[in-house]
Amino acid sequence: FKIFCGNANRPLAQEIVDYLGVPLGQAKIKRFQDGETCLAIDESVRGADIYVVQPTCYPTNDNIMELLIMIDAIRRASARRITAVMPYYGYARQERKTRARDPITAKLMANLITTAGADRVVTMDLHAPAIQGFFDIPLDHLPGVPILAEYFREKGLENLCVVSPDLGGVTRARDLAERIGASLAIIDKRRPEANVSEIMHVIGELKGKTVIMIDDIIDTAGTITQGAQALVERGAKEVYACCTHPVLSGPAVERLANSVIRELVVTNTIPLREKVIPQIKVLSVAP
Ligand code: R5P
Repeated sequence: FKIFCGNANRPLAQEIVDYLGVPLGQAKIKRFQDGETCLAIDESVRGADIYVVQPTCYPTNDNIMELLIMIDAIRRASARRITAVMPYYGYARQERKTRARDPITAKLMANLITTAGADRVVTMDLHAPAIQGFFDIPLDHLPGVPILAEYFREKGLENLCVVSPDLGGVTRARDLAERIGASLAIIDKRRPEANVSEIMHVIGELKGKTVIMIDDIIDTAGTITQGAQALVERGAKEVYACCTHPVLSGPAVERLANSVIRELVVTNTIPLREKVIPQIKVLSVAP
């Protein structure tokens, strides 16, 4: 087998090959003058089992095209099997129509990846697990919770409560709570419009608890920082937060720096774009 990567997360691809003790496949990805992707696979892939490590994170559209073009090139070079390793699956948050004339981008992505020539997909914490079924090829859906749970277990925190920042994340929060022996609470969040969140109620006992909020994605950090504030106002002693995918766009880092969150634990499915603030701890998913 051989492992290649695009430009989306080279440090993670390097960690994966180092872990496996194999070299990274030789490929060059550049831009033509007009911005189109220009790609050269510089070693034979004929008959080989090929893995392409490329999360479709920011700059999302460029990273998607790199992934598709890389798969196309490798398929045309007679690889035996191609696995798209997408630790972060971008465009997953539009996975169903919520209004008339909405697109379903998560399905469009699945169609594009399959048409390009992928035989299999490996991904982590899809925003909606049902996206697995948007593919007619095998898909491995790996959870980030075991890595996050191990970190918090080793920290030895006591009197813990895991909080889901919305109703959609309850299964993930329960999984973390069970793994670290914590109670569970849920924030009933309403979102009046995209990127704006509003807290309604907190279901569960928080008084004097050390709280760990868990989400799949932290994007603008509105959900997590407002949630953390609401938990402190309802009696939580201190608040930690964690997620698998640190999208961290727009005001995210500033919001986190100014929030009551003591530490934010994330994984490296997406490389951090901005200067890392001391509150952010990054765990590796490479192994
Ligand atoms: C939404 O349902 C997701 O699970 C996350 O809660 C959301 O994407 C986070 O977005 P933001 O950080 O912009 O509030």
